[in-house]
Amino acid sequence: MKTWLRELPKVELHLHIEGSLEPELMFSLAARNGVDLPYASVDEVRAAYDFSDLQSFLALYYQGMRVLRTEQDFHDLAMAYLGRAHEDGVVHVELSFDPQAHLSRGVELAVPFEGLRRAMRQAEREWGMTTALIMSFLRDREALEAMDVLERAAPWYEVIDAVGLDSAEVGNPPAKFAAVFERARELGIARVAHAGEEGPAAYISEALDVLDIRRIDHGVACLQDPQLVARLRETQIPLTVCPLSNMRLKVVDRMADHPLPAIIDQGVKVTLNSDDPAYFGGGVLDNYLACLDAFGWDREMFKRLAGNAIDVAFMPESRRSELLERLSRC
Ligand code: ADE
Ligand code: ZN
Repeated sequence: MKTWLRELPKVELHLHIEGSLEPELMFSLAARNGVDLPYASVDEVRAAYDFSDLQSFLALYYQGMRVLRTEQDFHDLAMAYLGRAHEDGVVHVELSFDPQAHLSRGVELAVPFEGLRRAMRQAEREWGMTTALIMSFLRDREALEAMDVLERAAPWYEVIDAVGLDSAEVGNPPAKFAAVFERARELGIARVAHAGEEGPAAYISEALDVLDIRRIDHGVACLQDPQLVARLRETQIPLTVCPLSNMRLKVVDRMADHPLPAIIDQGVKVTLNSDDPAYFGGGVLDNYLACLDAFGWDREMFKRLAGNAIDVAFMPESRRSELLERLSRC
């Protein structure tokens, strides 16, 4: 089954590329750029990854990414992750990144855009892997700042597949970003948003009502509201669920308590993703394997989840058909 899951053509829709920064690469980029780290060793970094909630993770996530300074750094970060994903049988990855977390350190927009794009082209050339790019806004900063970033990203509108919304959820409801997402809609840019990770089901409904999103990142709080569940079932707006992330950030205590099986039972469209693989214990395949362990799902279930991700990915229809055909042969 593990071999079969590795070979299944998997698509990843919810990945923060800055969250793929492994401690070894963190140290080598720190040395390359003369950045001081508050750790003496790779083991010390890993030992620090003992989170109590989303906020405790975000503090280390923003600290870790300070080593990313140049286009080459972003390229190397993305190539390292895409290479590991390729080995795990991932055939399409949607990379999200947080430009404000770099701009606030004096790293201009062109740096992540050009570095990531170069890696995305290289991954396609080397492995035939397809990719998409999601520019996310930090919801715990002012909406005006997000609007400014969106305007300044004009040279890259053609390479932005969607805008997203992430960072500290509670107290930063989707409606705060209504104008920014409306502007993205006017520009013809698709939208996704984190909602219902630590926040309530009401944030998921609000994201659907106000932000006009194509996908909900996480969304695991949806079961709190039966009307919302019915809406998700009827619209088939998908949730990009990240089981290992939810465990490590104490959204759930144990995998066995995860609401995923109940959400699927309700007819909601779900996909499996890694979120921040370097911080939460692995990539997409590890998330599939964790579900195998916890829920004992059969091949049909995993094929369905992999197919859901292909259905709702930002990719050309020809690629979608090709991957669905490959999946049907598994
Ligand atoms: N940024 C990176 N990972 C995140 C997560 N799990 N939730 C919100 N923002 C994030
Ligand atoms: Zn996320």
